Amino acid sequence: MSLSEDINREDVSSYLKALSGKSVSPPPIWLMRQAGRYLPEYRDKRAEAGSFLDLCYTPDAAAEVTLQPIRRFDFDAAILFADILLIPQALGQKLTFTPGEGPQLSPTADSDLIARLSTDNLHESLSPIYETVSRVRAQLPARTPLIGFAGAPWTVAAYMIAGRGIRDQSETRSFYYNDRTLARELIAILEEATAAYLKAQIDRGADAIQLFDTWSGGLPDEAFDELCFQPTRRIAAALKDHAPAVKFIAFPRGAGVRASVYAKDPNIDGVGLDTGASPEWAAGAVQPYATVQGLLDPLLLVAGGAELEATIQRHLDILGGGPYIFNLGHGITPQTPIAHVERLIACVRKNVAVG
Ligand code: CP3
Repeated sequence: MSLSEDINREDVSSYLKALSGKSVSPPPIWLMRQAGRYLPEYRDKRAEAGSFLDLCYTPDAAAEVTLQPIRRFDFDAAILFADILLIPQALGQKLTFTPGEGPQLSPTADSDLIARLSTDNLHESLSPIYETVSRVRAQLPARTPLIGFAGAPWTVAAYMIAGRGIRDQSETRSFYYNDRTLARELIAILEEATAAYLKAQIDRGADAIQLFDTWSGGLPDEAFDELCFQPTRRIAAALKDHAPAVKFIAFPRGAGVRASVYAKDPNIDGVGLDTGASPEWAAGAVQPYATVQGLLDPLLLVAGGAELEATIQRHLDILGGGPYIFNLGHGITPQTPIAHVERLIACVRKNVAVG
């Protein structure tokens, strides 16, 4: 037991306060993919590690890159450095990252693939990630919570089926329509593995969990409910059962108006909104039920200038009166100038309520 475990983190963390439903001024800020290629110190560490996966599986190096954006910008939360595709790898699927091409999983889906998946080595395979969580938690200031994460079952299944990210999910949707039993089996395996993985992150010191459903857009109602919302809801319930104090944020990217369904779930504390959500809609349809996080277009952050600052101000004006965490609507891109990140943080933090 370390000393820091005696501290009630909610008292000292603006991010956890916001997730408990309070309005905090200025709002906490962190950025999706805040540890990444826009930072020269990340690029150095990544070159040293050799490959992206080596970086993920080397606890010292992964802890270091998790902490880099905290040291540089003093963000209000750290996010574990890992990847959503480590789960399929831990289940036995072959994963490679080719620079410039993104992830590739092989072989593409068939019933054999699903039959071969096994949770037997799950924790052994992911143990370096658990070690990273412990090391990061030990080095973070008490006021800075650590966000653990995983991909939501549908998004991870989408990569497993297609072997790579596909914008309209055509292959994965067809897979589901052609063989619902097999698709349900795959989602069930992923749900179980993901809940076990996240519980282990919580046990090692994660204060909050974010579930990334990057490819949840474009599904018809019933399929969305079965493949995206229900698995997320059940994972949130399992985590709350395991550790009631842990906060849970869903990020159903592209879900549109369905984001409000997540907000109304009692185990979901925060909802990440993508660049397509309007702050006015979020204030009316999400914020009364859950903390709003996200919205700002990462490409507007790259562009910078007066439009960026006016948009930040608009988001603060419309959402700042309720529970709100400032973030982007998707990950920060490698070409983002560091000066624009500094300006963003200054704009958000200067916005302290008067009186
Ligand atoms: O946010 C953070 O700083 C924590 C680390 C993190 C990474 N990936 C590191 C990473 C997180 C939370 C993720 C989540 C992730 N990974 C998602 C969901 C969020 C989203 O962006 O939609 C998805 C879909 C993936 C899968 C993935 N990993 C892709 C599609 C790619 C290639 C795209 C790219 O940006 O190159 C990755 C690689 C990856 N994951 C990088 C990082 C820092 C870049 C790898 C590198 O250093 O070359």
